[in-house]
Amino acid sequence: MSESVILGIDVGATGIKGALVDIARGELITERTKLKTPDNKTPETILSSVVELANRISPDRSYPIGLGFPSVIIDGVCMTAANIDKSWIGQNLQSMMSDKFTSPVSVINDADAAGLAEIHYCSAAEKEGKVIFLTLGSGIGSSIFIDGKLVTNTELGHILFEGDIAERSVSNSARKRRDLSWEDFGRELGEYLLYLNRLFYPKLFILGGGISKKHALYAPYMDPSIAVRPAKKYNNSGIIGAALAHHLA
Ligand code: BGC
Repeated sequence: MSESVILGIDVGATGIKGALVDIARGELITERTKLKTPDNKTPETILSSVVELANRISPDRSYPIGLGFPSVIIDGVCMTAANIDKSWIGQNLQSMMSDKFTSPVSVINDADAAGLAEIHYCSAAEKEGKVIFLTLGSGIGSSIFIDGKLVTNTELGHILFEGDIAERSVSNSARKRRDLSWEDFGRELGEYLLYLNRLFYPKLFILGGGISKKHALYAPYMDPSIAVRPAKKYNNSGIIGAALAHHLA
């Protein structure tokens, strides 16, 4: 077993994904395995899916595990539950995971993990200054980096935007629910980025989540004054970043 290979798991509101990750290269070294997130999204059902996924990827359970999870996590404890069952609030995810696995485990907010993967493997020049990573999925997750250093547990998807919390109107699930064209979605997302820009003035926004593969369809409708790029590792950044966060912990 090499410490540079870690099992990365990314828990999302619709899918739980994982793979073994080579930390030196920031690449998956097994195929990505995915299970549907259980409908009720309670601690019991999600953890049993995480165990099932880990067993499928590494039946001998020999690898350390990094888990990205859609909650503000402070000292291993879940503080919020926007798109998962509310009974997660106050649960010590770190201890629950350690009870299930004998290998070392660490837990981190899913967007912090995905952003880490994007920033860690990018060029030194891109690391400089303030960068905001956003992941657009069932919700909107965020991570902020100052000179490559993560400011943990930011929730820019929960900022009030046009009368509601932003993730209700500009996440990928909101795009589907509202049946928005790529043009309309691009324009609204662009407005949201302009708004965040007026609050934080980052040097760059990086957009991740499954939708990052479709960047070319909506990016032309966003305000050109804002520097934006899609996540280079697309939707795998959550898995890679969860593994990386364990390595860096
Ligand atoms: C949660 C965040 C999470 C994001 C993406 C939001 O609803 O509050 O913690 O990072 O969804 O999963």
